[in-house]
Amino acid sequence: MPIPWATSGLDLHVELAGRRSRRALEEGLREAITSGRLAAGAPVPSSRSLARDLGLARNTVAEAYGQLGAEGWLEARQGSGTRVAPTPQSVPSGTSPARSRRLPYDLRPGSPDVASFPRREWLAASRRAWLEAPDPDFGYGDPAGLLPLRQQLASYLSRARGLRAEPGHIVICSGFTQALGLVCAALGPHRIALESHGLPVVRAILADAGWAIETVPVDEHGAAVGSVGDATVMLLTPAHQFPLGAVLGARRRRAALEWARGTAGFVIEDDYDGEFRYDREPLGAMQGMDPEVVIYVGTASKTLAPALRLAWLVVPAALAPPIAQAKRRADTQSGVLEQLTLAEYLRTNGYDRHVRRRRTAYRRRRDALVQLVTETAPKCRIEGISAGLHALITLPSGATEEQALALAVRRDLALQGLATFSAEGQEAAPGLVVGYASPAEHAFVGALDRLGEVLRELST
Ligand SMILES: Cc1ncc(COP(=O)(O)O)c(C=O)c1O
Repeated sequence: MPIPWATSGLDLHVELAGRRSRRALEEGLREAITSGRLAAGAPVPSSRSLARDLGLARNTVAEAYGQLGAEGWLEARQGSGTRVAPTPQSVPSGTSPARSRRLPYDLRPGSPDVASFPRREWLAASRRAWLEAPDPDFGYGDPAGLLPLRQQLASYLSRARGLRAEPGHIVICSGFTQALGLVCAALGPHRIALESHGLPVVRAILADAGWAIETVPVDEHGAAVGSVGDATVMLLTPAHQFPLGAVLGARRRRAALEWARGTAGFVIEDDYDGEFRYDREPLGAMQGMDPEVVIYVGTASKTLAPALRLAWLVVPAALAPPIAQAKRRADTQSGVLEQLTLAEYLRTNGYDRHVRRRRTAYRRRRDALVQLVTETAPKCRIEGISAGLHALITLPSGATEEQALALAVRRDLALQGLATFSAEGQEAAPGLVVGYASPAEHAFVGALDRLGEVLRELST
């Protein structure tokens, strides 16, 4: 039941839902923050006055403030009282019940920890690059992208991902999603082989472009490339299958390249999270094995932030002109200011340092997730943990994804089931695709605790 309160200093409406406990107060305050009613930086009443207004013990309010402070929602400043922290949680909108409202805890896949975006470094690189860029850079330019960025990427990708990349074969675009659209436009309708599980938007883009789709099953070694029918293009996520998590084995990589050579076709390599590899020896991109049959796509969406909309295609020589032309028709060129900044960030090795820092942080989170599952929910299986930013948790027998999502929403946790990523007729055992990179650092432990509660409840 909503209770509006007027205090001598500040009015604060807290939803206690009829409960008068510390937990109810914490939930009410989180709701006020995540719904945007309490904006970043907004002051909250003193614990004394809120306790008086709500009829709670002052200690109860102080403890709730303390807990929200530890989780990063609130900030206590000497002399200026308690305020909402500057970067409250925000959850992208979507279609599942969990997505229709913003939840304070989010373990859905697809996003890095955007709170870790290196704002100061990015700004410093922007400042340097923008001040030094020649005037013509601010006019219409090459649709393939700014040459200094393509040069920096060619050298970074060759060094860090094992590509054989030349600046003349690189096209800068706004995300993998645009890259795929450009390939469709440049090649014209084809028949494409897709992994049995993947991003739904990929199917939509291909269908819009009039491409025929066939499905390739995926097992623990990645896509079973030997079972491709009469497709002439194959789309793979070799570094870390999305969402099942397998790494494409060496034999299958060779087989896919042989298939492309034999059919005069192409492999599209979606290297969306290839920088994040934890357990095994670093595994280079397939493109390095045969640059003439692989259309490689990398993106800054996982290493930096999806909002940048910066990605790069490295294409066989013959495809560079038609793909650049498709880019011109799509939107003339990608924004030059972000391109200049990324070029400078790469040039000064800031990008490398940032990726290395994030790799260490995500490995720690991955370890904590594995420990949670093995120690508290042994009936669940966790897979796909050697790389990337997500893992697959298979549910105990008898449990459904709907149950898991509903239990999670009740705990203010957004989760995503595997079924949303399955091609028709390819449904696998019920599972959760857990994006352990998504929460901000301060919310990660809380998110994991809630996931643990959900898995335990499903196991009983
Ligand atoms: C499999 C896969 N590929 C590519 C991307 C990156 O897409 P974009 O570069 O358009 O942000 C994602 C992001 O979630 C992804 O999951």
